[in-house]
Parts: sequence; C-alpha cells; structure tokens
Amino acid sequence: MVRSIIAGTGSALPANRVSNAELAERVDTTDEWIIERTGIRFRHIAGPDETTATLGADAARRAIEAAGLTPADIGMIVLATATPDNTFPSSATKIQALLGIPDAVAFDVAAVCSGFLYALGIADSMIRTGTANHALVIGSETFSRILDWEDRGTCVLFGDGAGAVVLSAEENSDRGILSSSLHADGGHGELLYVDGGPSTTGTVGKLRMKGREVFRHAVKNLADVLGTALDKAGVAAGEVDWVVPHQANIRILEATAKKLGLPMDRVVVTVDRHANTSAASVPLALDTAIRDGRITRGQTLVLEAMGGGFTWGASVVRY
Ligand code: UT7
Repeated sequence: MVRSIIAGTGSALPANRVSNAELAERVDTTDEWIIERTGIRFRHIAGPDETTATLGADAARRAIEAAGLTPADIGMIVLATATPDNTFPSSATKIQALLGIPDAVAFDVAAVCSGFLYALGIADSMIRTGTANHALVIGSETFSRILDWEDRGTCVLFGDGAGAVVLSAEENSDRGILSSSLHADGGHGELLYVDGGPSTTGTVGKLRMKGREVFRHAVKNLADVLGTALDKAGVAAGEVDWVVPHQANIRILEATAKKLGLPMDRVVVTVDRHANTSAASVPLALDTAIRDGRITRGQTLVLEAMGGGFTWGASVVRY
C-alpha cells in the first residue's frame, strides 16, 4: 500500500508586520478589542512586489529543501488560494515557473479557508493512484487585497502569507496521511463571501462576513469533522499529539479543543502573530511548530479548517 508522507514543510510571510495599534490609527478599533475577541496581535501585509504566487513559491522552495529534494523532483503542484494573482492562468502554474519546474500537474483549488485541507486530500488521492511521487501542496493568500479597510468587523481579522508541504509516496508506510474528511454546505454562502467576481460584477470585490454566525457554525462543524476524521483513521482523541487548526480566532480554537476534551497545550496557536491567513493558515502553523521543535517525527497530528462556502475538513496525519 502507498501512503503520502509529509517529507518537508516551508512557509513565507510578507516583510511588513502590522500591529493592532498601527491598525487602530486608520480604523475605529483598539488593541484591547482585537486581542480579547480574537487573540490576534499582529498580521503580515503583502507589499506591491509580494503576491500569492511569490509567497507560495518562497514557501515551496523551503519545503523542497526541507524534504531534501530539488524542484525537478516535483511532479504535481496543488495550490489552495482564494486570492490568485490573476483570474487565470492558475497561480500554481506561476509558482511552477518561478521554481523552474520543467513539467508537472499544476492547478489551483478554491475552498477558501479549508482550501489547504481540500488540496491535501486531492494530492493524497492522486499520489496514491500514481499521478506523482512528490507533490507540492501549498496554501497561499493575499487577503489584504480583498479587504474593505473601512469595515472594522473584518479588516482587523486577516493577514497574508503562505505555507507548503512536500507530500511523497512511500510504500508500506506506517506514517503519512491516515484519513481525510471533507465537507461543504453551499446553503450558507451569504455568511462569508466576496461581493465581486469575473462572471458577476467583473470586479475583484471585497470580503463580507457575518462573523457571529460563522463563529457558531465553525465550532459545531469543526468538532464534528474532527471526530469523523479520527474515527476514519482509527485514532482516539487521547492519542493526538497536536491539533493544527485553521487560525481564525483563539476562541474558536479553545471551544473546539474543549468539545474534543483536548487541553490547549496540544493545540498549535499562531493566530496571535499571523491572524487569519485563510488557506495558508494550517500549513503556516504546521511549519512554524515543526521548525520550533514542538512537532517531531512519529507524532500524530490532526489538521482542520472551516471557511467560506461553507467548506470544512480535517486530516489525521502521522508525521
Ligand atoms: O476563516 C473563516 C472563518 N471565519 C471565522 O471563523 C470568523 C468567525 N467569527 C469571529 O471570529 C467573531 O465573530 C468576530 C471576531 C468576527 C467578531 O467577534 P464577536 O464577539 O462575534 O463580535 P460581534 O461581531 O458580535 O461584535 C461585537 C461588538 C459590536 O458592537 P455592538 O454592536 O455590540 O455595539 C461591533 O460593532 O464589537 C464591535 N466591533 C468592534 N469593535 C472594535 C466589531 N469589530 C470591531 C473592531 N473593533 N474591530
């Protein structure tokens, strides 16, 4: 049996780090409100030369290096993003060009904040059916470009960044992706959406969110999907070393951990320094915790996310 293992991880953040106090100079908000309601202290905001593709390529380069591979070894690039550089071509192909990868399967996946879980599930299936031996799975976003900087209810919540993993095929492995559970319910589209697009307004549009309602759905859906993914993998909640969640709000992380009976010291938290980076948040958190030594080889991880659509998903991984 072939499994997809996490061979290496990488991440990239824009150079410009913005504090809550700096935001409070241009928006009617306070450092105290943002920290108390969300846990966010900083976010990185892309400059004019930093795009979803450049950040994604930087994260990918670091993941390839960590895996001990070269760009030419990569046979597939799956990029999760809701903020591509252009409507087309896909930013995955732009990343391919930036990395100098001669030939690969390359495409974008649109599932907003759950995009990385979707991309991971797709890449895992394609690796196990022989499409590629080494795949880049990337989450990269520049949400600062689609924020309404007049709307304090949303603009303080998001940041830019990218995270990447190299998935590699390994025969008869006892590690790698053990299960994935992916879901969508299009009936809630109006609670979190962008009010523009190529086929409707012909404009890019701005992010709109009914935060309180999204919060309620997030806690329920995440607790459900974590249970399903753990059952599918045959792993008990008590055997989980680390939950690597989508970093939307510290209160969602705490509520989800409580529902599962997991202490917060087993949850990777980066929302304080990255804010919500949509599809980038799970791989950014994963790479952060691997590089700072919290996550070590052989540990059991649960990755999870929920976002616009609604879409949500979880994966159980033995690292
Ligand atoms: O990544 C996809 C998933 N997204 C999420 O998971 C986001 C989920 N939602 C949330 O994280 C929270 O709902 C928010 C952080 C967005 C909002 O927190 P909340 O506790 O639900 O606050 P609220 O929206 O109910 O607003 C409470 C008050 C309001 O004032 P009134 O009407 O009670 O007087 C808002 O106007 O806080 C006010 N407010 C602010 N005050 C200062 C809203 N935004 C701000 C702000 N600064 N930035």
